[in-house]
Amino acid sequence: MLIIVGSRREGNSYNLANMIKRELEAERLNVKIITPGNMRIHICTGCMDCDKNGVCDFTDDMKSSIDLIKDENVIMFISPTRWNCLSGDLKIFMDRLNPLYSTHGLRGKKAIVVSIGAQGKDIYSTEQCTQSIRSFIEASEMDFLLSHDFNDCKNADDILMHGSEIEEFIKEVKKIVQKN
Ligand SMILES: Cc1cc2nc3c(=O)[nH]c(=O)nc-3n(C[C@H](O)[C@H](O)[C@H](O)COP(=O)(O)O)c2cc1C
Repeated sequence: MLIIVGSRREGNSYNLANMIKRELEAERLNVKIITPGNMRIHICTGCMDCDKNGVCDFTDDMKSSIDLIKDENVIMFISPTRWNCLSGDLKIFMDRLNPLYSTHGLRGKKAIVVSIGAQGKDIYSTEQCTQSIRSFIEASEMDFLLSHDFNDCKNADDILMHGSEIEEFIKEVKKIVQKN
């Protein structure tokens, strides 16, 4: 499984990704993590050249990221909620996946979505974050399998207080990775 972390700080998304990696690796399941915000990734100009030939004119860290995605069947997106949307880092990354999409390279990959927010569940702060990532997944012909929203996570390690919720979520993730 490849985990794409939509926050560049060592915060809740980062902490969760590393917990998942540790737990799955303990069962000999392979997990890689990338953080697009800490990589050299240009913003898509919308030139649409990749629609014609599946190749982007930029030479940057998207090349290795796309190679990683090609090699994995299960992709997890973890995003902090930003103004009720997905994070900008993750959106920039998604836009640059168009070369892969245009050659149907995302078709059939299994997708898991996690949204993390500072607000409580009753405010539904994470719902639209999840929805925006999910609509990318569906448009790009991936199979949406699972999502989970973590609320009440403001400070960088607040997610650590969600122990049993994380445990239950990781159980579901393990089942998906084992099957795929
Ligand atoms: C610019 C900005 C906008 C945010 N907007 C929201 C929001 O709309 N809803 C929410 O619940 N939290 C919001 N937050 C809080 C973050 O989602 C929250 O702190 C999250 O745990 C950060 O994840 P990280 O630690 O992985 O960076 C926002 C944070 C920032 C910096």
